[in-house]
Amino acid sequence: MAPVAQRLFRIKPADMIVAEGGHGEGGELRRTMTLWQLTLFSVGATLGTGIFVILGQAVPKAGPAVVASFVLAAITALFSALSYAELAGTIPVSGSSYSYAYATLGELVAWVCGWCLMLEYAVSVAAVAVGWGEYLNRFFHDLLGWRLPASVTHSPGDQGGVFNLTAILIVLLATWLLMRGTSESATANVIFVMLKIAVLAFFCSVAFTAFNTGNLTPFAPLGVAGVTAAASQVFFSYIGFDAASTAGDEARNPKRDLPLAIVFSLVIVTVVYVAVALAAVGAMPWQQFNPGTTEAGLALIANQATGSTWAGVIISFGAVVAIASVVLTVMYGQTRILFAMSRDGLIPKIFQRVDPRRQVPVANTLIVALFISVLAGFIPLGQLAEATSIGTLFAFAIVNIGVLVLRRTRPDLPRSFRTPFFPVTPVLGVVLCVIVMLGLAGITWLAFTIWMLAGLLAYFLYGYRNSRLNRSVR
Ligand code: ALA
Repeated sequence: MAPVAQRLFRIKPADMIVAEGGHGEGGELRRTMTLWQLTLFSVGATLGTGIFVILGQAVPKAGPAVVASFVLAAITALFSALSYAELAGTIPVSGSSYSYAYATLGELVAWVCGWCLMLEYAVSVAAVAVGWGEYLNRFFHDLLGWRLPASVTHSPGDQGGVFNLTAILIVLLATWLLMRGTSESATANVIFVMLKIAVLAFFCSVAFTAFNTGNLTPFAPLGVAGVTAAASQVFFSYIGFDAASTAGDEARNPKRDLPLAIVFSLVIVTVVYVAVALAAVGAMPWQQFNPGTTEAGLALIANQATGSTWAGVIISFGAVVAIASVVLTVMYGQTRILFAMSRDGLIPKIFQRVDPRRQVPVANTLIVALFISVLAGFIPLGQLAEATSIGTLFAFAIVNIGVLVLRRTRPDLPRSFRTPFFPVTPVLGVVLCVIVMLGLAGITWLAFTIWMLAGLLAYFLYGYRNSRLNRSVR
């Protein structure tokens, strides 16, 4: 048997990963997704709570210059997006950064990356599902003057909550769609994304009628520090552009389409965010944004601009649809990452079993749904939600390093997309990820450390012994 260190850092050759892509036990995943569907998959996973909630909280930090904060956060995301695009075009399989790390930095780093992705996907989707009930309630309230009781819309211990039924409801709805098939889920997502973009376009059009250039001066009342602090906060709203990279095994033309989908989705959400932010701060003086309110910020502006409450109802509806689409796409991503890890033997085989009729990993989807439902139904997720950002940034940093390593170790591999200005772009990508990570709270780092230690324990108890690479002599 190879020495331990050699086993921990063995790589799975990129060609082997690609050759195995999509094959599970009992059947194969079906290649149905087009460039358009992949792009909207990433947009679906990205455009959600961030713009409906965090915008309102970030304005008091930066003033009207929150628009610049969105641009700054987009630039930070762009460096990593280019690295994702390069690796997705070189190793176009389902595991996203987990698979890229396996091909470049070895098994242990790949495992750590896969474990971090659970923070980006499963834990974040649970947090987002928890928030969904609140928006649903606001929508009911604005439309019918009626609310669901707090006992079923909040987690235990949170504002009288007993059991967060609404969070579980949205997880079950997404599970039902995912079980119907990837193509059906992608179609549902296209509808959701078009609806949420339409609602945000509606917001911009009414907010621009109340636009007052006077509201934009002084532009940065809290200086550069305010702009960067708000940028760190709104970075969350860009997380998810990488979701297309979890769909490599189900893309019709993954080599060409994955890199394009990742870059296009980032461009689309940036345009939407900047337009919404500009419309918001142009329509309402920045001092009137209250960091304590949630989605009411956008609804309030729309109500003030139109002089009636129906505009707010439309905005609440947009938030409900936006979050549903995040839950759907991010849950999908989690199942496909686990699929790739299971195929490599690092987690049990049940996660790679494909239902021959529906061509989806049914057992995997149900286990993920159960895990997320338990988290979402019973745990108030405020703290864990913050852990999402740190896990995501860690995975982003690994992807940037992966680009640097693979260009050196495998310059021969055909690359359908090459990061421009190499090696400056991936190096800057790592640096920016580290800077944003260092800005996160100490408690977040503590939660992250505990999570990673649990992950290492799981690896040594299971993955290390059952890795499929144990069978090949390396
Ligand atoms: N970017 C995602 C959102 O804003 C996580 O909901």
